[in-house]
Amino acid sequence: MDLEQFRNLAKKNILVTGGAGFIGSNLCEALLSLNANVTCLDNFATGHKHNIAPFLSHKNFALIEGDICDLKTCQQACLNQDFVLHQAALGSVPRSINDPITSNNVNVGGFLNMLVAARDKGVKRFIYAASSSTYGDSESLPKEEDKIGKPLSPYAITKYVNELYAEIFNTTYGLNTIGLRYFNVFGRRQDPNGAYAAVIPLFVKQFMDHVSPVINGDGSYSRDFTYIDNVVQMNLLSITTENEDALNQVYNTAVGDRTTLVQLTELLKKHLSFFDEKIQEVAIIHGPNRKGDIPHSLASVEKAERLLGYKPTHAIDSGIGEAAKWYWENLKD
Ligand SMILES: NC(=O)c1ccc[n+]([C@@H]2O[C@H](COP(=O)([O-])OP(=O)(O)OC[C@H]3O[C@@H](n4cnc5c(N)ncnc54)[C@H](O)[C@@H]3O)[C@@H](O)[C@H]2O)c1
Repeated sequence: MDLEQFRNLAKKNILVTGGAGFIGSNLCEALLSLNANVTCLDNFATGHKHNIAPFLSHKNFALIEGDICDLKTCQQACLNQDFVLHQAALGSVPRSINDPITSNNVNVGGFLNMLVAARDKGVKRFIYAASSSTYGDSESLPKEEDKIGKPLSPYAITKYVNELYAEIFNTTYGLNTIGLRYFNVFGRRQDPNGAYAAVIPLFVKQFMDHVSPVINGDGSYSRDFTYIDNVVQMNLLSITTENEDALNQVYNTAVGDRTTLVQLTELLKKHLSFFDEKIQEVAIIHGPNRKGDIPHSLASVEKAERLLGYKPTHAIDSGIGEAAKWYWENLKD
């Protein structure tokens, strides 16, 4: 990824919460390559030490092992920070359906702690991971930021509440915030293991093990799958933008294209069979549709292009190509 335009982040102090997770560790990596001073706050609830292992010896990297549910920890982490990239949360719709209290404690209580700490310590800008789940039952396509429906899961409620709190912290206390509504992000370091693994790493691992992936439903449901480099770009643009109108907004963070689940499995097969041709023969199984899943999701990225100057660098095909290569090199035993 060409980060040249973000060189002015050198020496800036930036806190990445959830920095040991999938998206957070990619943000830490990009920021370190720009010579920023990076602090990672993570309790390893779903993140991993191996995601940040290469950064631990870096002179510009600090790890705070702690929980965002503890206000004092958040206050300590925000001390002397210029910017916060808040990624820490419990992801996954099914996780929130199984245990709504814990998802709410972390995603709402922890979020509020981080806002209070950022306000108290004079953080210049608070950028946070919002979610496409905020569109809920709205059927309009493409999704535009100001047209949302009713939330369809406890997780979606938590992410919508984040947006409401961020707005209030701006209007009440003058904290500058930007919310990035991520759409099905994928790429290097996304965890393929565990009950709540996302569809792309899960299917990649199953194909690599010659196990048939199960598509929920007939495979016609579609998503705006977004490669991690596009998400990193949106975060860096949010920190560096000098456009005052771009602040205190939420943005779709996506590509603006949609792919059905059947097309996704074909793409995965195409790119993975480059490494193991037997993967072409792995059959797909279909199961029932999953509770809380919306049929289609497609973002308009016009607002991000207009206000932040966003230009997605990876469409799904090239993103899957890079992800497949990474998984092959890093997961294959
Ligand atoms: N991956 C996606 O497609 C997607 C889509 C929409 C929104 N998001 C949001 O993006 C953010 C990052 O997601 P991800 O995919 O990298 O998930 P992830 O699980 O890999 O990363 C989340 C990180 O937060 C940490 N964390 C969780 N609870 C914590 C706590 N109480 N205190 C400190 N750290 C804690 C975890 O250990 C982990 O490292 C989350 O806020 C998620 O809701 C992700």
